[in-house]
Order: sequence, then structure tokens, then C-alpha cells
Amino acid sequence: MSDKESSPIINNLVEMDEEVLKILSWNKSDLYQWEGFWCSPSIMKETMDLKATFKSVPNDVLLASSMKTGSTWLKAICVCIMQGNKEEEEDLLVKDNPHFHVPTIEAMKYYTKALAHDLYTIPSPRLFHTHLPYRVLPDSFKNSDNCKIIYITRNPKDTLISMWHFINYSHKRLENPSPLEEAVESFCNGVHLYGPFFEHVLEYWEERKKMPQKILFLKYENLKMDPKKELKKIALFLGKSFRNEEDLEIVLNKCSLERLKNLEVNKSGSLFHGVPSNSYFRKGIIGDWKNHMTPKMEERLDKLTSLKLQGSGLQL
Ligand code: A3P
Repeated sequence: MSDKESSPIINNLVEMDEEVLKILSWNKSDLYQWEGFWCSPSIMKETMDLKATFKSVPNDVLLASSMKTGSTWLKAICVCIMQGNKEEEEDLLVKDNPHFHVPTIEAMKYYTKALAHDLYTIPSPRLFHTHLPYRVLPDSFKNSDNCKIIYITRNPKDTLISMWHFINYSHKRLENPSPLEEAVESFCNGVHLYGPFFEHVLEYWEERKKMPQKILFLKYENLKMDPKKELKKIALFLGKSFRNEEDLEIVLNKCSLERLKNLEVNKSGSLFHGVPSNSYFRKGIIGDWKNHMTPKMEERLDKLTSLKLQGSGLQL
């Protein structure tokens, strides 16, 4: 009898790993298109359940993002800002990866360990995350005047390269990566988990125009280039402030890529079934696409970006 057959628990874990690896894919046949975006049956079901049952409470904060646009960084920053940067309090980021502190609401099934609180018992003000497009968010989030959304996005070429690495890493294909041409093709066709990318970004962008008090729209590049300005913006939006510059710098340092990457809790193990914890921390730079894309790929992505964003006022 093989290990896989020997225990129902091991069997379930293996199946979970396989399920997650299947949807971390550029392949149309591994993903399902539902409500105009690509996902898995399990995410579909979870999203429908959330839509039917999720009750927001005043002061809920939902972080939202397409994949590989800086979600982990934003989670870490918001955890620190909400905690109030009190030195005497324990550093939550040392204890657990940011993804455990800010659960991704439609992916609860995929976490490798139980969270300290389930979605409904997290103490208020609650911090959640989602990769879901705006159109399928639970109505109770959308309709509440007291809930806020922070959306983060990133240059599409860097997002694509980051996703390509992440998928290769999760599939243990770093030495023998899937052809970048295929990834570019799929990304441009919108076929990737939570894709299409441009529709995802534009939906939140347009909603933000209507409700600037409810939705804060951030860019990864701005966070990299002027982190202090962006952190102050986030804190203000959350109704918090930094006592002084030193406090701000403490949060920035706590959330730096180098620090998070080297924390014991992020070095090994997996967060979501089949996804190594350290795969969330790579280079964290602007313009890594230049190291990978051919001029033809660059041109294709640039043309698509200007076509999609035309008239929106958004530049990526
Ligand atoms: P790269 O693959 O370009 O390095 P997400 O968290 O949405 O999955 O996005 C992952 C991307 O954010 C990766 O980009 C990762 O390296 C980067 N990242 C993670 N933590 C970061 C941090 N603290 N500061 C800056 N970038 C970070």
C-alpha cells in the first residue's frame, strides 16, 4: 500500500495540494470561467456562499488585489498599522505569515492550518483579503457605508513575470520553467487564476471614482518609490496615524521584503496547500520584466495595456 493510499488524512492533503497546483496554471482546461473570471469550482462555491451569507460589520476592511501585485506586503503593512505600532505588543509578523493574519476570504479551504479566528469571530475592526473581482464581492461589503476597501495593483509586465515565477516555483519547475511565451499568451487572453487582470483592475478603479471615501486605490510602484507617503495615505484611510516619523519607519522596516523573507516563520512550510511560504517573497523590484521579456512580448503587453486602459485615466 502506498503512502497516498494509507491514510485518509494524507489522502486529503495530497488531493488538496493537487487541487491548488492545478489552478496555479496557464491552462484553460484546468480553470473554469465563471461570472467572467477564471477560478476553480471550490472558489466558485465559496464565493456563492459568501455572497449569500457573509455579514459585514462596521469598520471591516477588505484588502483586494489581483495575484502577484503586492498583496502580502499590503497585508503586513495593514496588520502593523491596525496594531498601532505599540512596541510593547508582540510583533505579529514574527508569529505568523501576513496571510494568516489577514485571511483571503474565498480561499479559507486552502489554508494549511486553522486560523486563530474563523471569518466570523475575528475581533473588530476586522481585516480581510480577497482576490475576487469587485462584481462578485459579498453585497454586504459593497453596500455598507462603514466598510472600506484597499485595492493594490501593479505594472502588468511585472505582475506577469512575478506570476510566472510563482507558478513555476509552486510546480517545482524553477530549473525547467514553462515557456514564457505561453504565459504571455494566457495573460493577454486573461486566462489565469482570477484573470483577466485588466478587467479586475478597471472594475475597482471605476468603483473608486464613484466612492473615493470607501475605496483606496494603490500602486505597488508608488509604495516602492515613496513608501512613507503611501503608508501615511493608508493610515489616514484607516483612521489611524503615526505618532512620528520614527514610528512610520518602524512599520516600514518591519514589513520590508528582506526582513519578512528572513523570518523563520516564512522560510519553510506552506501557507496554502501546495504553495511554499517562501514563494511569496522574491525580488520585489520594479522592472524585473526587462530581464525576461523579448521586445516582441514587451510590445504586445504595452499595446494591450494602452488599449485596455484607454479613457480610464489609469496608468500602469
Ligand atoms: P516579485 O515576484 O516581482 O518579486 P503577492 O503578495 O500579491 O503575491 O505579490 C508578490 C510580489 O510582491 C512578489 O514580487 C514579491 O517579491 C513582492 N513582495 C512580497 N513582499 C514584499 C515586501 N515586503 N516588499 C516589497 N515587495 C514584496
